[in-house]
Amino acid sequence: MARHTDKSTSRFREPPDPRFWRLNRSIEFDRHLAPYDVAQSRAHARALNRIGVIGDDEIAVIDDGLATVAAELEAGEFGFEPGDEDIHMAVERRLGGLIGELAGKLHTGRSRNDQVATDICMAVMDASESAGERIAGVMEELLRLAKEHRDWTMPGYTHLQRAQPVYLGHHILSWFWMLSRDFDRFAAARKAASVMPLGAGALAGVNWEIDRRAVASELGFESVTVNSLDSTSNRDMVLDYLSAGSICLTHLSRVGSELVIWSSTEFGFCQLSEPFTSGSSIMPQKQNPDSAELLRAKAPRVIGDFTTLLGVLHALPLTYGKDMQEDKEPFFDAVETVEASLEMTAGIFEGIEFDRDRLADAASDEMLAATEIADLLVRRGVPFREAHGIVGDLVRQCVEEGRDLSDLRPDELSARSSELDDEYYEVLKQGSWLESKRSEGGTSSASLDAQIKLAGERLQQISST
Ligand code: ARG
Repeated sequence: MARHTDKSTSRFREPPDPRFWRLNRSIEFDRHLAPYDVAQSRAHARALNRIGVIGDDEIAVIDDGLATVAAELEAGEFGFEPGDEDIHMAVERRLGGLIGELAGKLHTGRSRNDQVATDICMAVMDASESAGERIAGVMEELLRLAKEHRDWTMPGYTHLQRAQPVYLGHHILSWFWMLSRDFDRFAAARKAASVMPLGAGALAGVNWEIDRRAVASELGFESVTVNSLDSTSNRDMVLDYLSAGSICLTHLSRVGSELVIWSSTEFGFCQLSEPFTSGSSIMPQKQNPDSAELLRAKAPRVIGDFTTLLGVLHALPLTYGKDMQEDKEPFFDAVETVEASLEMTAGIFEGIEFDRDRLADAASDEMLAATEIADLLVRRGVPFREAHGIVGDLVRQCVEEGRDLSDLRPDELSARSSELDDEYYEVLKQGSWLESKRSEGGTSSASLDAQIKLAGERLQQISST
């Protein structure tokens, strides 16, 4: 195995051992950084030109050469060589092949340590932005569905036991707000990545008065780092992305789980569209919710990526260590998984169908009114804990005798509490249970309408960022 340039490796007499090279070589995965690496090199070359390190006649040659490298990489025509250790070395080697000795000037005032940190920041900025766009896409679908199903009733659950009735639109918006927070987390990851490390050199800074701010704004950074040691050892922005991704996919796993349950024959609350389901190889009647199941299962993978990088960075002395090359595979894996999962989620919601009757049927379970009866007693001055006990007794009696709450006779009610009169039967009439939830953020139509308005405003705010 030859070291790729004799000049920069002249300290060595022997080539790297293949058993080392196999693990050391990162080109198979860090080639994803290629567009950032070339853009960064072009900006760096211009900065070197402005301070006279690269002459006016030379800059055009370097820039053209880098443009050719970029085009080859984009077209998939770039010839990687076995001696290419990583993307930075590969780009430099190819540039040398295209423009000769002059290519060697490009690495003035730069180390692979600040170079790779800068590439990864650029990649995190892009990935965070595209996660945000995809999240917004899902949120739009959810808002549309919430509006369409604003007055469909369903049981709300705790412990996966029927608890209190809610409107389906209200439940759908609970997913919307989870994702809205994810949007903020990816925006924070983007911000963390928007501080440019380039100019830190290997670790101590560089000997050239490069205008770092000019390079930063050319590359879309908001600012530059203030400490060169921190610049080369910092991978927080990757952790931030992975953390946001872990939480986002955990959210999607909860959505996926609900869709699996809801689309079962037992629940029958919804049906996923055919393009998002699979058949069985043996049972012709099956339409399995594989997409929702995959959504349920993807989170641990991204969490694994997150803990992998935390593990790599844990107790690692500053500044750069080759350990840090291990940031890339978890990051790229997470980006792929986050983007694919969000895109699939949007697709699932585009075609999902809900079953109004099944939902309403489940919501008309009178037991769901137990809290309402307790509240009726509270309005009559009975302390809540006591009311809870009285209604608990009624429920137990009904369960034991196989009766509904409305089957209980007035004399049975008054035997339990003198406060239980005809209004008891009024309360049990379906509908009022939902409309009584008038608190801000509750499920009543008035509260839900206000919430739908807020959701629309949130989406507008997101699209204007
Ligand atoms: N491929 C390396 C990485 O991703 C680039 C930085 C190498 N720096 C060094 N001092 N060997 O971390």
